Amino acid sequence: MAINPQDATELAKVAPLYERVKNVIPDIEWPVHAPYIVAINELKAKRNAVILAHNYQTPEIFHCVADITGDSLALARRAVDTGADVIVLAGVHFMAETAKLLNPDKTVLIPDVRAGCSLAESITAADVRAMRREHPGIPVVTYVNTSAEVKAESDICCTSGNAVEVVESLGTDKVIFIPDEYLASYVAEQTDVEIIPWQGHCEVHERFTAGELDAFRSGHEGLTIIAHPECPPDVLGAADFVGSTAQMQNYVMTKRPSKVLMVTECSMSDNIAADIRDVEFIRPCNLCPHMKRITLANIQQSLETLEPAVEIAPEVAERARAAVERMLAVGS
Ligand code: 13P
Ligand code: SF4
Repeated sequence: MAINPQDATELAKVAPLYERVKNVIPDIEWPVHAPYIVAINELKAKRNAVILAHNYQTPEIFHCVADITGDSLALARRAVDTGADVIVLAGVHFMAETAKLLNPDKTVLIPDVRAGCSLAESITAADVRAMRREHPGIPVVTYVNTSAEVKAESDICCTSGNAVEVVESLGTDKVIFIPDEYLASYVAEQTDVEIIPWQGHCEVHERFTAGELDAFRSGHEGLTIIAHPECPPDVLGAADFVGSTAQMQNYVMTKRPSKVLMVTECSMSDNIAADIRDVEFIRPCNLCPHMKRITLANIQQSLETLEPAVEIAPEVAERARAAVERMLAVGS
């Protein structure tokens, strides 16, 4: 590290940031984070870089170095209009690929290339071609949690925030919806369009059970349960509200339930709890091991070295970009 953690002047520079996160980061941990935060914020200015951080990033990333935060849809939309030369994606690899598709001339960095996603791993481009052969003429709607190669085989992308709208935008009575089986069944409940699913699952959300939620409800009177649509159907059935990470955040910020359980990755609760004091968060705490590969240390390193940079073969990028841009045009 270039900065001595004991250096009071350097720590003083980021003291106002600690005020934002002090109810979710213990004071004993702050001297470990602070030198990285100082260095990253200096490097961002030097590189003309922005950091896009997903809602599942830890509070020291989300609140102390990120310029843009949000769900997958917001990150894709906001990636389009940054004036930066360099984008660091504090999230997982498919999110960095989406940012690169929308910014082919910019340097897009993912601080750890191993930050994958079980949904993206569940399907290949060859699988999509086989599905098309099995269901000729049926359009393919692809969740953004997929590789660029899979997006390139698709008609249009969607996120958990706009899936129903995207499916209905096609004007067909049937769609292939890949790869999340549980999101597909959630969408099928909201629309008359027939949904042909794939059997991919999120390794974080599939672990929640309805029995677990029932136990939380009986142990916490007045508990509000809000869930991400990647959860199994019986879990969604036991929730009071279902939505994307941004919709879940918006629910808590506007409705201010006295006690809430967010059935999703546990940094979500920490990041919201940093901003509000009047909501009690009950945390079952499932971590996404891929999201957690991103740290202040590897963000700093990637800004120093401008690596690892995301590259997508041009013939794949052109077709994948079209599917993402079609999604962005829906409802805009
Ligand atoms: P959101 O688009 O709702 O942020 O979800 C992304 C994700 O990976 C959830 O597991
Ligand atoms: Fe993928 Fe699930 Fe992690 Fe989201 S939480 S990035 S869907 S593995």
